[in-house]
Amino acid sequence: MFNKRTKIKELLQSAKTDIPCTVMGWVRTFRNNQFIALNDGSTNNNIQVVVALGAFPDETLKRITTGACIKASGTLIASVGKGQTVELKADEIEILGDSDAEKFPLQPKKHSLEFLREIAHLRFRTNTFGAVFRVRHALAFAIHEFFNRKGFVYLHTPIITASDAEGAGEMFKVTTLPLDGTAPKNEDGSINFKEDFFGRSTNLTVSGQLEGELAAMAFSDIYTFGPTFRAENSNTARHLAEFWMIEPEMAFYDLEDNMNLAEEFIRHIIKYALTHNREDLEFLAQRLEEEEKQKPQQDRSEMGLIEKLEFVVNNDFERVTYTEAIEILRESNHNKKKKFQYLIEGWGIDLQSEHERYLVEKHFKKPVILSNYPKEIKAFYMRQNDDGKTVAAMDILAPGIGEIVGGSQREERLDKLMERMNEMHIPAEELDWYLDTRRFGACKHAGFGLGFERLVLFVTGMTNIRDVIPFPRFPKSASF
Ligand code: 4AD
Ligand code: MG
Repeated sequence: MFNKRTKIKELLQSAKTDIPCTVMGWVRTFRNNQFIALNDGSTNNNIQVVVALGAFPDETLKRITTGACIKASGTLIASVGKGQTVELKADEIEILGDSDAEKFPLQPKKHSLEFLREIAHLRFRTNTFGAVFRVRHALAFAIHEFFNRKGFVYLHTPIITASDAEGAGEMFKVTTLPLDGTAPKNEDGSINFKEDFFGRSTNLTVSGQLEGELAAMAFSDIYTFGPTFRAENSNTARHLAEFWMIEPEMAFYDLEDNMNLAEEFIRHIIKYALTHNREDLEFLAQRLEEEEKQKPQQDRSEMGLIEKLEFVVNNDFERVTYTEAIEILRESNHNKKKKFQYLIEGWGIDLQSEHERYLVEKHFKKPVILSNYPKEIKAFYMRQNDDGKTVAAMDILAPGIGEIVGGSQREERLDKLMERMNEMHIPAEELDWYLDTRRFGACKHAGFGLGFERLVLFVTGMTNIRDVIPFPRFPKSASF
């Protein structure tokens, strides 16, 4: 057995000293030919491995370089140096993997996030990304725990689909047909997908919602947690072409029930991270504080990261309708002084991220749930309100992020749903299976989608979505 080692996190918390132990990990620094800072990813804190002078041949010492992988065995002792309570006095050191110091791109100094994005295969070995991805893991775990405790069934919805759930029309095609112009064609010159692998045109899914609704009509409460894909050409710090989404769908829920669950859910997940990831969050809070210092005073956030997260856990979200939000925006000094790029003139427009951020960051200064949007700017499946103009939609907007959740009560009335599909030119034949839920035992139901990376952004205080997913996919980039 090779893996006879103790993880560094456990050793650093050890109450006992003068015990034999073995660690394995990657060298962060090697000082004075004596002190190795070793990290194995279990925590951001390194263990100090002390190499007694003259105890090891020069040949070995030379190979202890930043990035090298080593195994060290010896005795865990109380540390006399400052910065750590215990350290490992090494009797044996084995180099498991060399790392050429001249070529290893990560030097023991501060690198820019942009540079680290280019070496995303190595950035896990930095403090920032160590913390970010441990927090990401904890959030995913907490999400499963939350729904499991409530009796939700975790449903795996398909990744390849023939339907376009959001009607957004920005999808990645899935095909095995040749791309060299020899694909079979119909008489009108269009591609004949009958000849394709699935016998029809297929795409990567933009959302698991429609399939989720089918299962909610049997299990009552389900959730999905999987990758979704959007080919929108949005080169922003908030958009990815491949992102993970959590989509709960609940029978017997109306819009208010939906908002209540979404709010409870977000607060619970953040609380979980505050309790279980304190050390990483404190590190990230400090990182953010330093980053904020580079900004002009008026652009700095009023709260630190931990403070902000605690604020969200302890305060109700603000709930306003789209109509009320438009009034607030139209009457704002910001609008009057023409500071919005898109000025708010009337009811009906889709809110831009500058408007969302104004509401959340300047006006309410807390997360906001906006509801009852004009039907024209929302998807076909949302329940039509009696006013004939709005639908029972809700978006949750978070400070520094903008939209983090999108959801709605669903249209359960077959005639209303078909009428809306017709107006939006969505062929009913293609969604016959979906419509069946409205034919056989339909009921009020609702659900929402939380963009996982936007949640991770919010919790870690990172500013670019490309830094909270291991290997980001965005326009012109699919490295690694
Ligand atoms: O608002 P969206 O498009 O809603 C849906 O897909 C619904 N079917 C959800 C549902 O009701 N079950 O997307 C939901 C969330 C957004 O609020 C946002 O957080 C995230 O997904 N999102 C993205 N995250 C990263 N990159 C993108 N390109 C995203 N597009 C949406
Ligand atoms: Mg949305």
